[in-house]
Amino acid sequence: MISIKHIITSLALLFLFKGVEAQNKNETALKDKINGIIKKMTLEEKINMLHGNALFSSTGVQRLGIPELTCDDGPLGVREEIKRFDWASANWTTDSATFLPNGSAIAATWNPVMANKYGVVIGEEANARKKNIMLAPAFNICRMPLCGRTYEYYSEDPYLNGQLAIQSVKGIQSQHVAACIKHFAANNQELNRDSVNALVDERALREIYFPAFKAAVQQGNAYAVMSAYNKINGYWCSENDFLLNKVLKNEWGFKGVVMSDWAGTHHTVAAANNGLDIEMGSSGPYDQWYFANPLLEAVKAGQVSVKIIDDKVRRILWLMYHTSISTNHPKGSIATPAHTKAAYDIASESIVLLKNDEHLLPLNTRSIKSIAVIGDNATRTFALGGYGAGVKAKYEVTALEGIKSRFGKTAKISFARGYRANYLANNTDAQNSGYDQPDQKLISEAVALAKTTDVAVLCIGSNREYESEGHDRKSLTLPFGEQALVNAVSAANPNTVIVIMAGAPYDLNEIKKLNHTIVWSWFNGSEAGNALADVLKGAVNPSGRLPFTFPVSLNDSPAASLNTYPGKDLTADYKEGILVGYRWYDTRKIDPLYCFGYGLSYTKFEYSGLGTDKNSYQSGDKITIRVKVRNAGNVAGKEVVQLYVRKINSAVSRADKELKAFKKVMILPAKTSIVSMSIPVNDLAYFDTQLHKWIVEPGKYELLAASSSADIRQVTSINISK
Ligand code: BGC
Repeated sequence: MISIKHIITSLALLFLFKGVEAQNKNETALKDKINGIIKKMTLEEKINMLHGNALFSSTGVQRLGIPELTCDDGPLGVREEIKRFDWASANWTTDSATFLPNGSAIAATWNPVMANKYGVVIGEEANARKKNIMLAPAFNICRMPLCGRTYEYYSEDPYLNGQLAIQSVKGIQSQHVAACIKHFAANNQELNRDSVNALVDERALREIYFPAFKAAVQQGNAYAVMSAYNKINGYWCSENDFLLNKVLKNEWGFKGVVMSDWAGTHHTVAAANNGLDIEMGSSGPYDQWYFANPLLEAVKAGQVSVKIIDDKVRRILWLMYHTSISTNHPKGSIATPAHTKAAYDIASESIVLLKNDEHLLPLNTRSIKSIAVIGDNATRTFALGGYGAGVKAKYEVTALEGIKSRFGKTAKISFARGYRANYLANNTDAQNSGYDQPDQKLISEAVALAKTTDVAVLCIGSNREYESEGHDRKSLTLPFGEQALVNAVSAANPNTVIVIMAGAPYDLNEIKKLNHTIVWSWFNGSEAGNALADVLKGAVNPSGRLPFTFPVSLNDSPAASLNTYPGKDLTADYKEGILVGYRWYDTRKIDPLYCFGYGLSYTKFEYSGLGTDKNSYQSGDKITIRVKVRNAGNVAGKEVVQLYVRKINSAVSRADKELKAFKKVMILPAKTSIVSMSIPVNDLAYFDTQLHKWIVEPGKYELLAASSSADIRQVTSINISK
């Protein structure tokens, strides 16, 4: 008998098939159309499309109705309009935008829905500014905690990165704006980024550095990829045949455009033949760029074929037909209330509660009558600063403003600066000297204030000058003499909440030891202060989880402990291979200060009944996992259920465990949620460098349902048969 379920499944499949069929037809028609256009183009016209004609655009072909291609940075939001030929502001009055939480904040939400919201805002605002490509998201793996762009990137885990990248891309592209995912690949340090050669074995590339890019291309359908500045295994990323032609274009089937990073092109023929499509950001007269007259000459000399040029033009036109010259192109909008709401939602899910031993949080508005808000970061904004892309934010709510708005009616709020943030990214070391010293006068003022209030909220951390593109930090130490301020204020007022605003791991050993209440926030966008204050008040139950490990000491981290950072003779040998982030700490049994996936809530979650739909699977199957999670406290809260997998008795060296699935779920007090997740068996594969393929090892695997990488709550095992 045919059941209703059968009929529904068959109908769904039919619709899916029809949808795919229609899409294929459209794509074939588009291909024909594009080929028709290419036939009408001269070689000069084609070549003009392959390099910048200004800082953020490349030429179209007016007589054929092909517009200029325009792009803008990301990732923090759509950057203000700058002059066509230099980086100075164009002084527009209509380009004030939404400042969105930074990459590691988005990653800390562990929520792909938030990544999608982020993308939609970026896409809508890009349209309002008539930008066809957004140079975002950026999600290089956090290999070295000192990397100056850690705040822009997502996490140390390829799976978490991938899930967020897919949705950021989908969000941006839902608005017919191309996402340009960056920086492909292994751009894991800023120090010597333009010259360093990353020596990475193929297994580490395939298992750690590539997966999020692959996911963003294959599942997110990203229309553009930015090649990284560095070299991989001896070849610049912008002319790396393995990276761009073999893997990205041929294996992954990438149909879009590879764009160089700004001034990241080094040669004409090698770049053209090895996969680069558009050269951007070079210096000198535009007609002298590698992909301008020199490319024309190279084609004429037979060093680059017309077929290769046509392929590049085809890719650009394909991108345009999905973006700037797409039908029903949305108009876009900028800094709307809906964008504010998205920025708030992301920020409020990103904040991580690190410690709450005395249950000081959430702050009790009935009993707390005075709050001392202390620290330069309480009044600082983070939309701009340092070297690299920022946002001219329409507004940005600081921590002090947020606290005033949420607590001002019930408590007296006062402010003391506490420390001087004396550090500018563009300064020399000599000019920055002394930036790590405490300011005793400011500390005394802060202490005097803290003594008089019920609670002190101490806002420390870094800022956009201290964490910046083009620089790595020199150590994990909190800057600006902040530790001295923390010690003094905490001694003066036992009810001190430490709020750290930063985008990367820091040394919190002393704070963890001596302070009872620690909250981690980020460069958290236009609504940062409101989101933070709502967490302090309990209007938002914190649900952020760390997207990277905080090591006890820098020397514990893989690249530092193997002495491969920043590299010798401009070569960084990634000797740790696949053991990046928690994979390293867990496998080597090194206790971190705070582990990957860690974060507290105002409630407690209990796990039970982890099970799978079957005991044994084979390659190509899907493992369905269920686990019960009960909210055992008095308030509603969101838990991030993390699913790690461990291979028992592997024939190859493996990490102790790897994240293979996760889900964020809202659970009401005393309620139980049955959380279901699935893992394709093929995701358990390792990359065999001898055979050059992915291998699913048969045998026993443990599945670990966890609240963080160190807090395993339930374990079950399955078998994979041959
Ligand atoms: C950065 C890119 C950015 C580009 C354009 C480069 O320095 O690495 O991420 O998109 O500049 O601003």
